[in-house]
Order: sequence, then C-alpha cells, then structure tokens
Amino acid sequence: MVTNGSEDGTRPADAGRVPSGSGGVPASGETENGDTPLMRLRGIGKSFGPVQALTDIDLDIPAGQVTALVGDNGAGKSTLIKCVAGIWQPTTGQMLWQGKPVHLHSPKDATDLGIATVYQDLALADNLDIVQNMLLGHESTRFGLLDEVNMELTAKQTLQDLRVTTVRSIRQPVGSLSGGQRQAVAVAKAVMQEAKLVIMDEPTAALGVTQTELVLSLIERLASRGHGVLVVSHNLTDVFRVADRVAVLYLGHLAAVGPKEEFDTASVVDLMTTGASTRLHNGNGGEPTASRNVSSGSED
Ligand SMILES: Nc1ncnc2c1ncn2[C@@H]1O[C@H](COP(=O)(O)OP(=O)(O)OP(=O)(O)O)[C@@H](O)[C@H]1O
Ligand SMILES: [Mg+2]
Repeated sequence: MVTNGSEDGTRPADAGRVPSGSGGVPASGETENGDTPLMRLRGIGKSFGPVQALTDIDLDIPAGQVTALVGDNGAGKSTLIKCVAGIWQPTTGQMLWQGKPVHLHSPKDATDLGIATVYQDLALADNLDIVQNMLLGHESTRFGLLDEVNMELTAKQTLQDLRVTTVRSIRQPVGSLSGGQRQAVAVAKAVMQEAKLVIMDEPTAALGVTQTELVLSLIERLASRGHGVLVVSHNLTDVFRVADRVAVLYLGHLAAVGPKEEFDTASVVDLMTTGASTRLHNGNGGEPTASRNVSSGSED
C-alpha cells in the first residue's frame, strides 16, 4: 500500500508519501509485476477556478480487477472519474492508456479508447426496450433497415454472458425495470460496446438488497472476464465485497491506495475522515504505517 501520494515510489519522501512493500514501479509503462495498467494517472490535478478539486493523483487502474474509489462528500471522486471519462480535462498531470500518453478532449475520446461510464441516473431511454437501449447509437442495419434479429441476438447473448437472468423479456421497456435491472442493462451496454474499462459512480446507492446483489455480482463477473472496473462507492460493505484494490481520496488528495487486504473498515474510515490512519495492514509485519495528515502536510 502507498499512503498520502504517489503510487509509484518515484517521488521524494517529502512529497508526503509513505511507501510500503508494494511501491517501487517505474515512471511509466509496466508495474513491478510486469503488467501495464489499463489506465495510469500521474500527477493529475483539477481545479475549478479557486477550488482545487484534485491534487497530484497517481493511480493505476489495472485490467481484470475492481478498483474501489472511496472518500467523503466532496473528496473529488466524481471529478476524478469525470477526468478518466473525458468529461473534464485535468489541469495538470498525465494519463497513460495501456502505457501510452493520452489526452481525452471529450467523452467520445474516452469511449473510442474503450472506456465506458455507468452513472446512477443512467442515460437510458425509458420508452425504449432493453435491446433498443443496449444498441442505441450502435444499431446494426441490413439492406438499409434495422437488423432487429441480429440486434436482439447480440443483446440477448451479452445479457446471458453476464448472467443477467432476472428480466422477463428483453423487449420490455426499460422504464418498467427495477433499479438493479436498469443498472444491469447499462453495464451490459458497456460490455457490448467492448469497453475495456467500466467506470461506475455509486452503482448501488439507490438499490435494495437483491438488486445490490445483482449489481455486485455483475461487477465481479466483469473483472473476471478481464475488464478493468473503477467503482465509486460510499458503501464500505460493498467495497470490501467486490474490490481487489482500494483507493481513498481525502480533500482531493490520494490518501492511500493498495490491495483490499491491507485495509479494514476502521482504517478506511480513518483515511476518509482525516486523510491518515495508523491501522493499516500494509505488509510491514503488522506494524502500523505512520502516515501524515494530507490536509496540513505535516507530521501529526
Ligand atoms: N463543476 C464544478 N465547479 C466547481 N467546483 C466543483 C465542480 N465539480 C466539483 N467541484 C468541487 O470539487 C470538489 C470535489 O467534488 P466531487 O463532486 O468530485 O466530490 P465527490 O467526492 O464526488 O463527492 P460526493 O460524494 O458528494 O459525490 C468539491 O469541493 C466540489 O465542490
Ligand atoms: Mg460524487
């Protein structure tokens, strides 16, 4: 785990980071285990006029894993995912997509790379059915006509692959679905468009127990099929259930990032509320990691 700053171990200690056993990756390209992350953020900052929403974020988002992004209200979670989704352009820093520097000027740039974002108030059309929604903007045609048969087969196959089995008919209007089913359709749409990275902002916030279960297992399945998943959640039970990695934002700074096993609920709450924790299981033989309060930048 790395706390209070750089994930790569390349910056000086006075930058406020406290490395553990998992630091030490090169400045770009591969991580220490030889994999190139799908997306690598380096020194990302974003300001809105005088408001510094993000400061110096270094974060790797690997394929085949669920990275959970947590933080209190206003910590910068939505701003960070909007940068990755091409909605905002960072004020500073660099993004590397599969090892190559990229500049996302629009959501379309992100979509073209294979980045799909699923928002809670999903951009689905209530009056259209599931198939039409899944193919909206990607309709297949035959002899100048919509190829309904092919579209239906593709949509059905994708839902089956993701084991979304609770919908009665794929021809029912999306307006008649439950929140969890809507979420599942939005995720299936992202998968069908061959998204390599699926970003989800609070996917379970408005869902009941069964629907939450549906979405959480879908997230796990996405990762097991090789997609990278970046999920924002306030629900630490959900986070510890699905995440492989946890990244904690505090007042726009990355307070800590590492494998889920290095955190527990108490340490994540510490990090979310104060930017530091002395309760991290960070591979230092059970010794707590000293960490500095990122709001003051001084030892406490
Ligand atoms: N368009 C904007 N213009 C000005 N300030 C903004 C804008 N968007 C976000 N901010 C500010 O940036 C900071 C981070 O906001 P952000 O929405 O990313 O937080 P968040 O972690 O997603 O919070 P929440 O959990 O409440 O959704 C906040 O101080 C917010 O007021
Ligand atoms: Mg938000």
